[in-house]
Parts: sequence; structure tokens; C-alpha cells
Amino acid sequence: MKLKERLRLFIRHNRVILLFRLMLDAFYEACSQSKHLGASNMMRDEVKFAADLCIRTHAIEKGMSIGSVRMGFGQPKVLALIDDLLLYVSRFPSVSIDESMAVIANYIDFNRANGCPVEVVEARYEVLKKAYTLKEEMAAGIAICSKADTIEATKAPFDVFSQSRCSIRDFDTETIVDINDIISAVDIARKAPSACNRQSAFAHIYQGERARELFDFQGGTNGFGHDMQYAVLVTADMRRYFINERHQMYVDGGLFAMQLLLSLHYKGLATIPLTTAYKTRQTQRLKKNFDIPPHEVPVMIIGIGAYKESYKVAVSHRNSVDTYYQVHR
Ligand SMILES: Cc1cc2nc3c(=O)[nH]c(=O)nc-3n(C[C@H](O)[C@H](O)[C@H](O)COP(=O)(O)O)c2cc1C
Repeated sequence: MKLKERLRLFIRHNRVILLFRLMLDAFYEACSQSKHLGASNMMRDEVKFAADLCIRTHAIEKGMSIGSVRMGFGQPKVLALIDDLLLYVSRFPSVSIDESMAVIANYIDFNRANGCPVEVVEARYEVLKKAYTLKEEMAAGIAICSKADTIEATKAPFDVFSQSRCSIRDFDTETIVDINDIISAVDIARKAPSACNRQSAFAHIYQGERARELFDFQGGTNGFGHDMQYAVLVTADMRRYFINERHQMYVDGGLFAMQLLLSLHYKGLATIPLTTAYKTRQTQRLKKNFDIPPHEVPVMIIGIGAYKESYKVAVSHRNSVDTYYQVHR
């Protein structure tokens, strides 16, 4: 082999050189992210501020969709949200906060209907109503679904089928989920595309107590984590990627996770996607505590349980289609 070729291969495959190339790439990425991530100068940027309000609005909405919700939950958070909504509309007068308005109104009605009036929130909400004129009425808060309708929709054409999947936080704890249905869903999800057909995604399936430990570690299932029976931690194998592909594993793993979510829905199981977006130390702990090999990256957790005959879901309003695309000519 010629010296030039040997040098080229050395540069390409040497770990120390790779480390420096990755650090440089990570540095450029950090520069861009320090400017554009929502965390930087959030309150001065309309979109970033809106993202923060959206997350906090959704936290209230999903709180109401938990099977064993504690009435009157989250009042300090709702009050803080209202204050920041007031600030937001005063700073950016043309924005819409219709969804947040609808969720707060729903929160007030929900608590009142369940014998827990939240007068302080109501009074503060009245102030917000005076400061902001609704642009559009929208459904928000919780919706009641029936298992029979959902199961029927899982056999419907794709548009109906895919619209019938929701994140579930209200589970039946009596009906046992059959692990073979999960394995069968993994089988279906293998059809997910991956870059150069690398098929790097992997499903770690945790059952019973191990699943509950994972939900406790994950931290986003308070009030319903222990009502689920299985946790699937989707990972992707870093060893199948090369330089310039630092994020490709998350794309491939994410596509697999979505396909798995739909496959589980097809099998009639109640599911919820759960984040594994942690700081590095926490990710290391996750991998250590849950037997994930060092070369795998966690992509997403899917919580799995059984549907109640009648169950609550968070409405999770979607923005209009024109906000989702642009045709470039
Ligand atoms: C990557 C990801 C992470 C999520 N993490 C959580 C979580 O930690 N806790 C939770 O209750 N919901 C979580 N969700 C569910 C979202 O809140 C939900 O998908 C969104 O509101 C849309 O609602 P839908 O799934 O019912 O259509 C997550 C969803 C995704 C895609």
C-alpha cells in the first residue's frame, strides 16, 4: 500500500484524530446552538418564549389526563404561567395564546367539576382575559375516548389509524399486556427505514418492577408510571456510523421508535413516548443502571400498558397545516 494511502487511512481511523475532529464539529455546533436554542435569550425572542409557554401549557394539559390525577394540582405553576402569558402578550402584541387560554379555562372547569374550585387561578385568569382577546376558539384540555372506538380505528385506513394514536396516561391496571404483542410490534417496526439500511436501532424491553424503575428514573411519568407494564428503551448503535454522522443514529433510532409506536398502537396497546434527553452524566447513569452497552445511545422510551374501556387523553392541539410546510420554487 502506498504511503499516501496509508496516511489517509491512518487519519481516517485514528481515535485521537477522530476525537479532535469531533471536538471541532461539536464546537461549531455549540456555537450555533448557543445562539439558536430556546435557552438563550428566551424572553426576547417570540418563538423561544412561545416554546417555553407551550411546554408549560402542555404540562397542565397532560396533568389533567393522568388517570389518578390529584385535584387542584399545579396551581403555583398555572399562576406562574398566567403571569408569563401576560408578559408575552404585552411584549409581542400580535401573538396568539389561544391554546394556553383554552387549557387554563379547561383546568378551571375540570377542577370545579370535580369539587375543587381554584379561585386564585380564576381571579388571575380574569386579568389575562382582559389583556388578551381570543382569536380562535379551540378544543383543549382532555378528551374522553373509548377503547372500542380506538381498537376499531387501528384497523382503519392510515389517515384514521394514525390520528387515533394518542399518548396515554390513564391505564387499565387489571388487563395483562402480552409480551408477544410487543415482540410482534418490534417485528413490524423492522421495516422502518435507516440510512444505508444500517438497522442500528434496538429495543430493550423492561417488564414489571424493572419497567417501574426505569419510569422512576425517566422522571416524566409521575402519577401514572406505575400503571404501565412494560417500558421499551429504543437505542441506536454508534458503531454503525462514521464522521459527519454524529446525529444520524438519532434519526434512524427516532424513525424506528415512531414505527414501533404505531406498530404497538396497531396491536391495540396503550402507549406513551418518553424522553431520554438528559445531560451526559445522567445518560451514563441510565446506561449503567439499565444494562445498556456503552456503544448504544438512548433515543426514546415507550411506556406500554392496557387501555381502559373509557380513558382520558390530553388533546395536544396541532398547529394548522400551513405552519408545517413551505413550497420552495
Ligand atoms: C420524544 C418524546 C418525549 C416525550 N416525553 C414525555 C414525557 O416525558 N412525559 C409525558 O407525559 N409525555 C411525553 N411525551 C408525549 C408528548 O407530550 C406527546 O407526544 C405530545 O403532547 C403529542 O400528543 P400525542 O402523542 O397524544 O399526539 C413525549 C413525546 C415525545 C415524542
